[in-house]
Amino acid sequence: MNKDRKLLIAGNWKMNKTASEGAALVQGLYLELAGTKQLEIDIVVCPPFTALSEVSKVLVDPKIRLGAQNMSEHNYGAYTGEIAAGMLREFGVRYVILGHSERRQYFHETDEIISRKAIAAHAAAIKPIVCVGELLAEREGGLTEQVVGKQLRGSLAGLSKEQMAETTIAYEPVWAIGTGKTATAQQAQDTHAFIRRLLVELFDDTVARRVRIQYGGSVKPANAKELMSLPDVDGALVGGASLEVRNFSDIVKNSI
Ligand code: PGA
Repeated sequence: MNKDRKLLIAGNWKMNKTASEGAALVQGLYLELAGTKQLEIDIVVCPPFTALSEVSKVLVDPKIRLGAQNMSEHNYGAYTGEIAAGMLREFGVRYVILGHSERRQYFHETDEIISRKAIAAHAAAIKPIVCVGELLAEREGGLTEQVVGKQLRGSLAGLSKEQMAETTIAYEPVWAIGTGKTATAQQAQDTHAFIRRLLVELFDDTVARRVRIQYGGSVKPANAKELMSLPDVDGALVGGASLEVRNFSDIVKNSI
C-alpha cells in the first residue's frame, strides 16, 4: 500500500452489544489481530455509550482505539439524555462518529449541528469522523456531488486547517448502508476524489492530502481489499460486519 495516509478502519456497532458482549468482542479481536502492527493501520471500535466503560478496560493495547457514535454539541448543562465530549474523554475515547446518516434521518441532525459537534469534539481532543452520503434517488438524479458538497461545506464550517487535518470524513452512500449493495470501485473513487478536491478549495492542498476519507456501506472481507486499494480511499467505516470477530478482523487483514 503506497499511500502516505495510514488507513483507518472503524467499527460502528450502532445499537448492538451489551457491555459484556462488547468486551468479549474486543478480546476476540486482539487474538485475531495479534500479528498486525499498530504502525500499519489504525483500528477503532465504536460501542454504544453503555459499553464504553467495560470496553475501555479491555483495550489494553493501543492497537485498537476507542470511539463513540455521537455526542452533544454542548459541554454540560440541562440537556436531558445527552452526553458531552468531556464525559467521553474520561473513558479514553479518541474518535467520535458525527452526522451518521441514521442520525441525520431519524434524529434530524443538520449540517449546522454536526459542525458545532465537530468543533466541540476537537476542543476535547477527540477526533471527529464526519459522515456524508447521498440517497439513491439523489445518485440516480446525478446529484451526488451537489449533495455531498453541501453536506461537507456545512458540516466542516468553522474548523481550522489544523482541526481539519485531524478530522476524518466517511463517505457512506445511504443506499449502500446495511443493504449489501456496495458502491463500485469507480463510484467510490470518483466521489472520494471529488471530496479531496473540495477540501483543497475549502482548506488547502496540504490539508487535503492529510485528511483520511473512509468509505462506508456494506464493507465486508470480500470487498475490503479492492476498496482500500483505491487511491483516495483511506479506510472503512464498517457497520454490520464489525459485530463479529472474524468478519471485522478479516476486513482489517485484507486491507493491509
Ligand atoms: P454497514 O453500515 O457496514 O452495515 O452497511 C455502515 C455504517 O452505517 O457505518
